[in-house]
Formats: sequence, C-alpha cells, structure tokens
Amino acid sequence: MKRARRPLRWQEVAQAVRRQRIGRRFFYRAEVDSTMEVCQALGRAGAASGGVAVADAQTAGRGRQGRSWLAPPQSSLLFSILLRPSLPRSEWPHVLWPFALALHEGIERVTGLRAAIKWPNDLVARGKKLGGLLAETSADGVVVGAGLNVNFPAADLAVDQPFTTLLDELGEVVSREELLIACLQSFEAWYARWLADADEVWQAWRAEAYLIGRQVQIVDGDKRHSGLVVDQDRDGYLCVRTESGKVLRHAAGDAQVRIDD
Ligand code: BTN
Repeated sequence: MKRARRPLRWQEVAQAVRRQRIGRRFFYRAEVDSTMEVCQALGRAGAASGGVAVADAQTAGRGRQGRSWLAPPQSSLLFSILLRPSLPRSEWPHVLWPFALALHEGIERVTGLRAAIKWPNDLVARGKKLGGLLAETSADGVVVGAGLNVNFPAADLAVDQPFTTLLDELGEVVSREELLIACLQSFEAWYARWLADADEVWQAWRAEAYLIGRQVQIVDGDKRHSGLVVDQDRDGYLCVRTESGKVLRHAAGDAQVRIDD
C-alpha cells in the first residue's frame, strides 16, 4: 500500500522535466516560508524564465486576497514557477489561464478525474475546492503558484469553504511525483500556446469554465446582487446578467462568488 505522506522524490521530477523550458532549473525545499517567495527571489537575482520551486511544507503559504494557504506537510503539491513572458505586461496576469488548463489536464492524465476551472483560479471537484492558483507580477516577471490538495482527508484541515482532496475524491493515494511531472509537462505545452496565441488559450479556458451558465450571488464590498454568469471575457472579468438584463463585469480581485443552487 502506498504511503500517503512521505517526502517528495523530487529528483524523479527534476529528471523528467530537465529538457523543458519549464523546470530546467528545479529547486526543492523540505520546508520553506512560501514557494512564491523562492521564485520572487530568483526573479530579483536575474534567474531565467521557467525556474520551478517545490516544497513539502510551507510556514507562510499564501493564497489570494491576503489569505493564507494551509496543507499538512508532505501531503500536497505546493509549487511556484518564475516566468518572463514575451507578451505585453497587461497580459501577464492571464498566465493563470494556461496554468489552470495545465493543472486540469495533468490531474486528468494521472487520475482520470476531470476537475473544473472555477473563476478566477480555483480547481474544483463536485463543486468543492481541490486546489488554488495564484499569480504575482513584479518588474522582474510573473510568479505563478499552485496548491493542490492530494493525499490527506479534507477533514484534517479546518477551512471555511467547501474543500476536497484527491484522496477524498478517488479513495486512494496518488503519486505526487507523477502528478507534478504531468502538470509541468502540460504547462510546458500550454504556456507555449499562450505565448503564440493568447486568444486561443482564453477560448480554451472559457470552455472549461465551471461558472458559465450558473446562477450566482456576487459580493463586492458592501454591494451584492444575483444573476446568471454569461461569460468570462478576454480581460478575465466575470460577466453576470442581472434580473434587469444588465450585464455587470467583475474583476477577480474584487468580487466573491456564491453559487445559488
Ligand atoms: C488561492 O487562494 O486559492 C491560491 C492559493 C495558492 C497556494 C499556492 S501553494 C504554493 C504557492 N506558494 C504559496 O505561498 N502559495 C502558492
């Protein structure tokens, strides 16, 4: 029987991706504050695009909107990638589109599970959060990061939102090495496609959207309204048609979405 928690055999992963643009430089830490921080430091030091930082535990893992990201040690995939895209800076935050598509594809290739992509950048299974993605842009490039819940029961963590793990979804331990290799290989391809044709990747991201066609409630500061999600537009905004017929656009940083089932 496979052990749910053990150190990542990172050498296997580094070996598998050594000829790629993504992962040619590979940094593993048993414990670190945040893999985002490792890649930001690489960026400041002038490292090339494509460096990957992976950790088995984070002491200050960060999520969106100032939240923290928790994961039991040696249970999950926690990694970041330094990128220097050859696209206008206004496009850089959209690197989350090829990144989300890569994780979606990597998970399916290894486990058969089709996780949906929930705006702005969550991976969900049966509506529950399976992973979260983050992008941080700076003058030195853009760092993307992913936290994927793998080999622990969701009940082990007290989290204030519907939350799941691959162990809970599949009932078996998943090889984190295989999963990380598949995600990095998929990202190699999706990232190249995005650099070549960002519009095409936007269309692919929209095609996997969990929220389009769903009735939601938007909480934006002290304003809230209900409506039908009709699109995720080329700027990355969530477009919601309210009862009056008006379409309101919401930026990822501002709105919280609740699904009306
Ligand atoms: C979210 O809030 O949903 C995004 C979470 C992103 C978490 C990952 S874990 C690896 C990387 N390092 C961090 O500190 N955060 C990201």
